[in-house]
Amino acid sequence: EYKNPLGVDIDLETGVIPGAKKLVRRLSDLKGYFVDEKAYEELLKENPVVYEVYAIEQEEKDGDLNFATTVLYPGKVGREFFFTKGHYHSKADRAEIYYGIKGKGGMLLQTPEGRAEWIEMGPGTVVYVPPYWAHRTVNTGDEPFIFLAIYPADAGHDYGSIAEKGFSKLVVEENGEVMVVDSPKWKE
Ligand code: 6PG
Ligand code: NI
Repeated sequence: EYKNPLGVDIDLETGVIPGAKKLVRRLSDLKGYFVDEKAYEELLKENPVVYEVYAIEQEEKDGDLNFATTVLYPGKVGREFFFTKGHYHSKADRAEIYYGIKGKGGMLLQTPEGRAEWIEMGPGTVVYVPPYWAHRTVNTGDEPFIFLAIYPADAGHDYGSIAEKGFSKLVVEENGEVMVVDSPKWKE
């Protein structure tokens, strides 16, 4: 049987995809992810929403595609800008495409050996995430950073090693500037 084609209009102001499954990540879902633990505990009293994902997903089959928008809110924990958890794909060789819709931010990518890359993103930026690279987005602006991701339906998410060790780089504000610096938490 053939599946039915589908067309949806993303709300380019809010990032909402009508009919999509919504996932909400609050600060409490990101325990252990930020370097400044005191700043984390302080902000936890408010427990803000850090990001929301609107996903249209298919069965996990080879050859099919999923897509999702992410609305990543502005904010910082200490000097670190708000970010998504970040992950490898469970099928590590699955690639992905991101497309910037609104706001300002970027993507941290990393190989399993810890070689990191930072790519700035704004409306219209396309980012190619090659096979095997972990990826995390960061909001470096003062409004929601919204983007679309398109990824193989069987890619899956492997959060384990990022949850444990993080990325080798942090994206922080220093004297009003966005800086990508070495993470003190990273060890080989
Ligand atoms: C994916 C995409 C993307 C991502 C969200 C939230 O593979 O599904 O990379 O939709 O999941 O931006 O980020 P985290 O999954 O890292 O929390
Ligand atoms: Ni992904």
